[in-house]
Amino acid sequence: MSKPHILILGAPGAGKGTQSKHIVETFGVEHVTTGDALRANKDMDISDMDTEYDTPREYMDRGELVPDAVVNAIVEEALSSADGYVLDGYPRNLEQAEELSEMTDLDVILSLDVDTEELVDRLTGRRVCTECGTNFHVKYSQPEEEGVCDECGGELHQRDDDTEETVRERLRVFEENTQPVIDFYEGRDEFASIDGEQAPDDVWADVKAAIESRT
Ligand code: AP5
Ligand code: MG
Repeated sequence: MSKPHILILGAPGAGKGTQSKHIVETFGVEHVTTGDALRANKDMDISDMDTEYDTPREYMDRGELVPDAVVNAIVEEALSSADGYVLDGYPRNLEQAEELSEMTDLDVILSLDVDTEELVDRLTGRRVCTECGTNFHVKYSQPEEEGVCDECGGELHQRDDDTEETVRERLRVFEENTQPVIDFYEGRDEFASIDGEQAPDDVWADVKAAIESRT
């Protein structure tokens, strides 16, 4: 049987990256994430795409969306070579959702629901491993040794867009552009709404069950 096509939706900080890691380990799919792909290419010259700014960095550090043409190309390329995937961070507006429907079909659509003030707390306290990408949190998920990754010993850092000001702008952009995408998918048989405010292991139990019952 071919591997599942899974879409994970949710606001900044809802736990998409955290849950995607479990999905990859359990279902053997690829993690296709526009956020990580863009962070790895933050200073790429995109000026020939007729964009307002010349690099992804200038959009990301403001909490704005990188232009559709740039992210559509990243996703199309990644999905064409993936045998099963969890797609995280895309689509973020209705135009991208339309684009995605022309690229692939979806077996499971997950939406992680978390209250806004909790999201601000999670994001401003997040620390990420510069080597393996594992997430920690200064209060909720502390590493054994401060600043050092439990998984690989790599150095932990704070993402450039995790300052409170940028976090609030990211949440505003989510409400305006991405909430309509969730509303668009809701009601389909593939769609499952997950309570993302539970402890990470409990969220994972719900995510796993939702995938298993749809594949
Ligand atoms: P992206 O990297 O996708 O960021 P995001 O959507 O803002 O989401 P995050 O990665 O911040 O949160 P997450 O849901 O993955 O949560 P996590 O698991 O880390 O995008 C960044 C930028 O790139 C955008 O702003 C935009 O500029 C650009 N971009 C990306 N895609 C684009 C697109 N399609 N179009 C245009 N532009 C695009 O968890 C967060 C924290 O909470 C961690 O510390 C974690 O340990 C903790 N945590 C997780 N789960 C729990 C739990 N259950 N309880 C308590 N704490 C928890
Ligand atoms: Mg993420």
